Amino acid sequence: MVAKASIKVDTTTCQGAQNHIMSILSTLVYHSQAAEPFSEVELLYLLAAARARNRAEGLTGLLVYDEGHFFQWIEGPPLSLQRVWHAIQKDSRHQNIRVITDSEIPIRLFSQWHMQFAHRGGAAALHIDGLVEASPDVLEALRQNPNRAPEILAEFSSLGAGPFARSLELR
Ligand SMILES: Cc1cc2nc3c(=O)[nH]c(=O)nc-3n(C[C@H](O)[C@H](O)[C@H](O)COP(=O)(O)O)c2cc1C
Repeated sequence: MVAKASIKVDTTTCQGAQNHIMSILSTLVYHSQAAEPFSEVELLYLLAAARARNRAEGLTGLLVYDEGHFFQWIEGPPLSLQRVWHAIQKDSRHQNIRVITDSEIPIRLFSQWHMQFAHRGGAAALHIDGLVEASPDVLEALRQNPNRAPEILAEFSSLGAGPFARSLELR
């Protein structure tokens, strides 16, 4: 006689665990330097491609560019983030990439944008959807203290974007 083992699966717990895994959000903040200074048109191309892929991957965030420096906050499901992060690291348009923070987060800060963009402004920049104009003080603070990028970038999330966006001032 063959003994039958009966395994009772607690579906409530499995479902709960699965929902938890699906809802985990990661964020990554890094600083990098452009290999060559970006023109506004090049920034537009980068942003359009990044947004299209981020939309497909369910990623949101903020990209700051100023005088050859990039700061980026990316957030979303860990596997999607890993895939895109892999591509970003291999991108020869920037170098000296340094991760400042890489952690789990409870909620998205930039849920409205597949990549919001903060910039000093300029003619072409005025036409960029999702633009926040950044004040020179804030950009200077970022460059002087890259380690403060997570807290400074997080503040941008409260500003909105587009023609009615307020600009971020240092407090
Ligand atoms: C500063 C910087 C930020 C970028 N941010 C993103 C991004 O948020 N999402 C994205 O998909 N690609 C981003 N890219 C572009 C990627 O590096 C890459 O070109 C793109 O994902 C296509 O990758 P693939 O050719 O491997 O498909 C960024 C590139 C740079 C230089």
